[in-house]
Amino acid sequence: MEKSQRKLGIIGCGAIGTEIAAAIDKGSIDIALHGCYDISKEQTDKFSAKLKNVKPVFMELEALVKNCDLILECSKKDAVREIFEVILKNNRDTIFLSVGGILESMDLVEEAKKKKINIYIPSGAVVGIDGLSAAKCQGLKKVTLTTRKPPLAFKGVKYLVEKNINPEEIKVETVLFEGNAFEAVKAFPANINVAATLSIAGIGPEKTVIKIIADPNTTANRHEINAEGDFGSFRAITENVPSPNNPKTSYLTALSTIALIKKIVEPIHIGT
Ligand SMILES: NC(=O)c1ccc[n+]([C@@H]2O[C@H](COP(=O)([O-])OP(=O)(O)OC[C@H]3O[C@@H](n4cnc5c(N)ncnc54)[C@H](O)[C@@H]3O)[C@@H](O)[C@H]2O)c1
Repeated sequence: MEKSQRKLGIIGCGAIGTEIAAAIDKGSIDIALHGCYDISKEQTDKFSAKLKNVKPVFMELEALVKNCDLILECSKKDAVREIFEVILKNNRDTIFLSVGGILESMDLVEEAKKKKINIYIPSGAVVGIDGLSAAKCQGLKKVTLTTRKPPLAFKGVKYLVEKNINPEEIKVETVLFEGNAFEAVKAFPANINVAATLSIAGIGPEKTVIKIIADPNTTANRHEINAEGDFGSFRAITENVPSPNNPKTSYLTALSTIALIKKIVEPIHIGT
């Protein structure tokens, strides 16, 4: 018997949510976009206006989770815990993009494991997560991430305001932060999902070493991962360009999420 098409519900109709909806609208993913939810009505209106072929129903959070069988969270780090509670209550498989929030809700991940709910975290804005997952199976010893972005990418970050650092005044390469992934996610909640993903895939947030650099000589967001273990070592560098449809998001993040949904709904699975 053929499997029926899964029903996707999107939480957060911003840059990433809109990219994924557009891919479904184009027919690139074999899934039905059933519903969407956002705290901002303006965002859901903009989101719906961009779609030609699919017409997702706007639903409140609980109704959306109940009525869909795969949930895509792409909202905000601080919303993750509330959303996760609803996911657990309704036993729904979920893809989380706000990975910093997951790092602060690992108790709920444990609960999801017990209930056999599938929790998916896409590789997002970096390459190398496949190798890291394999390396973790035996003797992964060291993982570091160096993230380099143009200074304006850090505009409004509270950690910098508290330290009296104005990104607009940074004229030479400046190390803004060195520490572990836990501290990085707290200090740079919107900028450092990659650190969270890397630490969950690898040796955990306390041992993963993060360096964040503001570089006025770059326009790209650059992530360099170095890993060492029984397998040997690797260095993976990603230089991201913004999405052609939405300059607010790295193109690779949306593409990685599309690839992950395809992996969930299609029968051929390539890569670790
Ligand atoms: N995993 C990765 O590699 C990666 C890369 C980039 C961004 N992200 C994360 O993905 C998330 C979405 O990113 P984006 O660029 O689309 O952001 P965005 O700001 O463009 O969109 C977020 C949307 O979520 C909505 N929202 C906020 N709080 C909400 C809540 N409590 N419930 C429902 N909706 C809510 C906002 O109104 C907005 O429409 C962010 O948390 C971001 O940090 C992850």
